[in-house]
Amino acid sequence: MKAHDGIYLDGAWRPALSRDLIDVVDPVDEQVIARVPAAGPDDVDAAVRAARTALPGWAATAPAERAARLTALRDALAARQEEIAETVTAELGSPIGFSRAVHAAVPIAVAGSYAELAASHGFEETVGNSTVLHEPIGVVAAITPWNYPLHQIVAKAAPALAAGCTIVVKPAEDTPLVAQLFAEAAHEAGLPAGVLNLVTGRGPVAGQALAEHPGVDLVSFTGSTAVGRVIGATAGAAVKKVALELGGKSANVILPSADLARAVNVGVANVMSNSGQTCSAWTRMLVHRDRYDEAVELARTAAAKYGDRIGPLVNAKQQARVLGYIEKGVAEGARLVAGSTEPPRERGYFVSPTVLADVTPEMTVAQEEIFGPVLSVLRYDDEEDALRIANGTVYGLAGAVWAGDEAEAVAFARRMDTGQVDINGGRFNPLAPFGGYKQSGVGRELGAHGLTEYLQTKSLQF
Ligand code: NAI
Ligand code: MG
Repeated sequence: MKAHDGIYLDGAWRPALSRDLIDVVDPVDEQVIARVPAAGPDDVDAAVRAARTALPGWAATAPAERAARLTALRDALAARQEEIAETVTAELGSPIGFSRAVHAAVPIAVAGSYAELAASHGFEETVGNSTVLHEPIGVVAAITPWNYPLHQIVAKAAPALAAGCTIVVKPAEDTPLVAQLFAEAAHEAGLPAGVLNLVTGRGPVAGQALAEHPGVDLVSFTGSTAVGRVIGATAGAAVKKVALELGGKSANVILPSADLARAVNVGVANVMSNSGQTCSAWTRMLVHRDRYDEAVELARTAAAKYGDRIGPLVNAKQQARVLGYIEKGVAEGARLVAGSTEPPRERGYFVSPTVLADVTPEMTVAQEEIFGPVLSVLRYDDEEDALRIANGTVYGLAGAVWAGDEAEAVAFARRMDTGQVDINGGRFNPLAPFGGYKQSGVGRELGAHGLTEYLQTKSLQF
């Protein structure tokens, strides 16, 4: 696989000062497909300096000029759509159809949405005798995960650029190649040198150096709660703004009046998508006790159909972690109705689509994020019980409610402690704010709400 042997710094690909390298592995056959630099603290420092130097010029550009560069970025990504899909398939292992439809198409749409928002956003408003200026917050550090590797970069970089911020991106170790493609597209789009910089590297080295760097004004992180907690504490101590998009344990609440077959089938598809490596996945299905057995049977059938159609997990560590959770679920009394505690293939980091029934709210598999193709089906007695279970985790990222009547579903959704709820299978909206209640995070991404995260206000009184 094609890879740059440098980091993208101040408008050019340059050799890293660190000699360390990261092996990029195809999770389907476990072969090394490329090597990229594992940058060190000095490389990170050079990237932050480049972003600082570029900041005054970029912050002063007219929003229309930033919109033009973002349109060019969108077009450059669109011209590479197939290459993006093939690259994500190679380094993440997702089936090519999913890579095309989601990993390539969604970030192109999001980049386009910020080209429009940069042009239309009110960067100035009048409040009584004040003019309020919405100014860029400064240098942004973006630390991103591997599960939606291009989407998560674009969801940070596009609003940051639209706001007039400059940025240093540190992508996940497992998926640096699509990040390099993104930097190439940004270069082609004509972003001035230093406005966007890409430093591939390891989390505890390059990631930590970036999060701690005094030249960074805002750290935007997506990943595990454990790392997010540390980044939040470091940023707090430095009085620096932080955005955290962490885990989830979202509830799919099927009310008694719902179309059960549809709710279960869409619910299983939601969990198996991207092999379960989705922070907003509806990993807990809540079904009324009277329809519970029927729902479990539908889920078992649906999961069995996925058999060979889901890709592997990203790496051996995630595979072991997910299999460990399945074992723990069985040990704590859950019933394995689909899937297995063993990997389905000799080679590759595969886990079978798994359904656990008789899961109770206090079980580990009902509380912790598994991040694999594992659905837990829980039973509830009545609506109050369903609400208690739905809200009974430390997380609150997403969720779903199904009911015969839309108003009934909405009434339930209003009482859920979570950032997004899909009503009767509502479609993903790339302009709707995305982010967590409780320990699922701080801040919102996407659309106008995502843009304001990268702005700070200055009030002029007249
Ligand atoms: P991770 O949190 O270690 O990795 C995410 C990013 O943080 C990567 O770019 C990594 O290099 C960086 N990082 C790691 N340690 C760091 C540090 N000390 N300072 C600064 N940056 C650091 O996540 P990991 O280990 O890949 O996955 C573990 C679990 O995290 C998953 O099973 C899942 O539960 C959760 N996760 C959630 C994601 C989400 O979308 N919210 C995405 C990825 C993982
Ligand atoms: Mg890690």
